[in-house]
Amino acid sequence: MTAAPAAAPAGNWLVRFYGSTIGRKVVMALTGIILVGFITIHMAGNLLVHQGAEAMNAYAEFLKSKPPLLWGTRIVVLLAVLFHAHAAITLSRRAQGARPDRYAGLKAQASTLSARLMRAGGVLLLVFLVFHILHFTTGTVLPSQFVDGEAYQNVVRSFSIAWVTIFYVVAMAALTLHLHHGVWSLFQTLGANHPHFNGARKKLAWLLAIVVPVGFVSVPIAVALGLAR
Ligand code: HEM
Repeated sequence: MTAAPAAAPAGNWLVRFYGSTIGRKVVMALTGIILVGFITIHMAGNLLVHQGAEAMNAYAEFLKSKPPLLWGTRIVVLLAVLFHAHAAITLSRRAQGARPDRYAGLKAQASTLSARLMRAGGVLLLVFLVFHILHFTTGTVLPSQFVDGEAYQNVVRSFSIAWVTIFYVVAMAALTLHLHHGVWSLFQTLGANHPHFNGARKKLAWLLAIVVPVGFVSVPIAVALGLAR
């Protein structure tokens, strides 16, 4: 008599799912949704800069006065970034390993270009994020422009330096491309690829790709124009 196979632990299913190509794409889509949600809220909060120092600093103070909210968000965002990047790197390695030469047609070239742009933009955004946290959260990279608890003044002082403003504007341009292609693709991954939805899908991808980065760059631009000082 053969023994019945032992029931697989529930965790195994998740590990196998993440090991599969579709599982990794779903993880990219879901972590992408988390990150889009975070940056949309973050951008809306940053618009308080346009209301002046009191409004912006009170908002930053409010966030710091709620450690479970602050740390919960930090942990979720960090995990989302790590899984998003890991899934992207491993999927792209798999696709490169599997791509047969006979698909070197125009269509494949076009998708390779957008895949390349996603990869290069993703790396730039990752570098931006590390710099950004060392800049505005810990004050490590430009310590002379940073005073803990002075979010508004930190922003104004930093964006008075031309290269900092240029770096942020370039990173937000990369965010436009990344969001446009990313939002469009995540619907595909989650199965919402139907002629009936595709018009709305395209509009949402453009809307997020324009509104979020433009809202973000309005801050350094306001400093450059002397509207925030
Ligand atoms: C022009 C664009 C941006 C500006 C002006 C900006 C501004 C800021 C400021 C002032 C803070 C510190 C807030 C505080 O002291 O309480 C901050 C924190 C942060 N930002 Fe941005 N941000 C920008 C774009 C982004 C983008 C695109 C991302 C995501 C990819 C991002 C992710 C974060 C994160 C993770 C933190 C750390 C929050 C924390 O744990 O304290 N930011 N940002």
